[in-house]
Amino acid sequence: MTTRRTLILNGLALGSAGLLGARLSGAAGPEHTPDENPLTVAVLGATGRTGKFVVEDLLARGHAVRGISRSAGGQPPRDGVTWISADVRRPETIRPALEDADALVYAVGVTYTQVEVSALYDVYHTGVADTAAVAGQAGVKRFVLLSSAGRLLDGEFPERLRPSMDAKAKGEAALRTSGIHYTISRTPGLSDRPGGEYGILLLQMDPIPPGGPYMVCREDSASVLVECAVSENAINKTFTVINVVTPEVGSWRDALPYLHKDSA
Ligand SMILES: NC(=O)c1ccc[n+]([C@@H]2O[C@H](COP(=O)([O-])OP(=O)(O)OC[C@H]3O[C@@H](n4cnc5c(N)ncnc54)[C@H](OP(=O)(O)O)[C@@H]3O)[C@@H](O)[C@H]2O)c1
Repeated sequence: MTTRRTLILNGLALGSAGLLGARLSGAAGPEHTPDENPLTVAVLGATGRTGKFVVEDLLARGHAVRGISRSAGGQPPRDGVTWISADVRRPETIRPALEDADALVYAVGVTYTQVEVSALYDVYHTGVADTAAVAGQAGVKRFVLLSSAGRLLDGEFPERLRPSMDAKAKGEAALRTSGIHYTISRTPGLSDRPGGEYGILLLQMDPIPPGGPYMVCREDSASVLVECAVSENAINKTFTVINVVTPEVGSWRDALPYLHKDSA
């Protein structure tokens, strides 16, 4: 039987204007060969659930890592990683950690149910803006931001997520105007399933159509963040990352009603 979820995903595949790319999951595994040009990549939020996969993926690809968070200095030593305690709410602590880094991944997060609204803006808005400013001064070439998708069809965010999504939208806007080369990789719900189980779609649509819940696992999201940090293929691009299973044969028929009409 064709599921609603499958229909919508098929609809996206047919509406290729919004479809940036699809490929099998690229989570770095043991078979991964090192990249040709080793870089130094700063990972902000390196001790977090997504950040730790970003660190693993970078190491597997032969890159040097600066692992940064408020508690990172307490991490056990690890070959290839320099752990640095710093706080994005205090850009003067971030600046030294970015010196001579080639790129940075911003995977900083706070749980919106556990902090004041102002803390969301500190991390997702001013934290991003301030980090972009000091990254530019430090000569960092690329800023890859882990952001969130969640806009409803009417353009609004769901009520309970509104403060964090508004803060992230403002952080995205600040990054776009900062002058640094950036990539904004939005995720819908994050899961802790292993990477590489499902394909990955990169969608350039906002909002993404109904039919979810759309999910991506943190390990797959991390592999996308790393690719954007170490290559020039995603400079100044914004997209949403979702995991997909192959649509069922014939489900494309049911997707037709969901396609957008051409503009006149
Ligand atoms: N949960 C979801 O379903 C979902 C969906 C879409 C998008 N996202 C977004 O994905 C991102 C990462 O999520 P996650 O679940 O992987 O995060 P997480 O496990 O909560 O990790 C957050 C990381 O940020 C660091 N951090 C927090 N405040 C900091 C500060 N002021 N300065 C420096 N580092 C700080 C934390 O380390 P310290 O505590 O040591 O500082 C930790 O390393 C967040 O932006 C989140 O909103 C989540």
